[in-house]
Amino acid sequence: MKGKVAIVTGAAGGFGRVLVRALLERGASVAALDVTDSGLASLREALRDHDDRLSCTLTDIADYDACARSTEAAAQRFGGVHVLINNAAMGMNAIREDSMENLVGIRELTPQTWNRFIAVNLTGAWNMTRVCIEPMLEQRWGRVIDVTTSFFTMLRGSFQPYGPSKAGMEAMAAAHAKEFDGTGVTVNVVVPGGPADTPMISASSPLKNQKLIPPSAMVAPIVWLCSDEAGGITGNRYVAAEWDPGAAQADEERRLRAPIAWPQLAQSPVWPGGKPAE
Ligand SMILES: NC(=O)c1ccc[n+]([C@@H]2O[C@H](COP(=O)([O-])OP(=O)(O)OC[C@H]3O[C@@H](n4cnc5c(N)ncnc54)[C@H](O)[C@@H]3O)[C@@H](O)[C@H]2O)c1
Repeated sequence: MKGKVAIVTGAAGGFGRVLVRALLERGASVAALDVTDSGLASLREALRDHDDRLSCTLTDIADYDACARSTEAAAQRFGGVHVLINNAAMGMNAIREDSMENLVGIRELTPQTWNRFIAVNLTGAWNMTRVCIEPMLEQRWGRVIDVTTSFFTMLRGSFQPYGPSKAGMEAMAAAHAKEFDGTGVTVNVVVPGGPADTPMISASSPLKNQKLIPPSAMVAPIVWLCSDEAGGITGNRYVAAEWDPGAAQADEERRLRAPIAWPQLAQSPVWPGGKPAE
């Protein structure tokens, strides 16, 4: 990935940290964005051997102007934008530590909580895609990776606003993959496949005593999808826990690919004159 510039949101979190490191180790320059100052400071410290190719910028992805400023700064410093990993999100632990065990009912939610989740998890990913897409389309090379979640989680009872925010992101990814098809910009979804061992699962959760998916599981599929070799691969969804980093990566991609979202439900709109162009 030498010469490529990657932007990773939620960079100070569980997946973010391993992804930033993996991209740096493969030669990319990385702009690490997050809302936590202390998280970014510890990331910078952990990766100080790479600080000529790493920028850590406090950015609330719900704020479009902040996304634009941080992207512009990364493009100026490193010379472009090639890869966007939409990884930042608020989890249900932001509402209550024990929200995985004692689910959060609608009466516990305020409109402010609902709006903030949507603003970060859905609008935030759109904001970042909107600002990064201009340089990607111009150079006819771009990779967008949207980290959503398992379909089970999207539809789970009392797992809102997280579930619907991620379902919206999944639909956005499917639509962007179609819109950018043939432009050199690919859009794919990668999910861990189940609960992963990151701060999104609270330290007090009994799940932490089980074998959770390691954050490193995200690295192999995401890095491969960002490569030149994956230039023709778009509109797909991968479960990282099933991806074998030791196998031939192009074979893993073929073995595990599924379409983004639920296209089988979108085949027959009642539309004057027949199905419209996608
Ligand atoms: N951990 C899991 O079990 C799991 C399962 C399925 C999907 N995911 C998804 O994986 C991604 C990474 O999550 P994680 O498990 O590493 O969680 P995490 O909580 O460790 O990391 C999320 C990061 O996003 C940052 N963030 C939150 N709001 C932000 C904002 N407004 N602007 C910028 N950054 C913001 C947080 O500060 C944090 O560093 C998320 O999209 C999450 O929904 C996680």
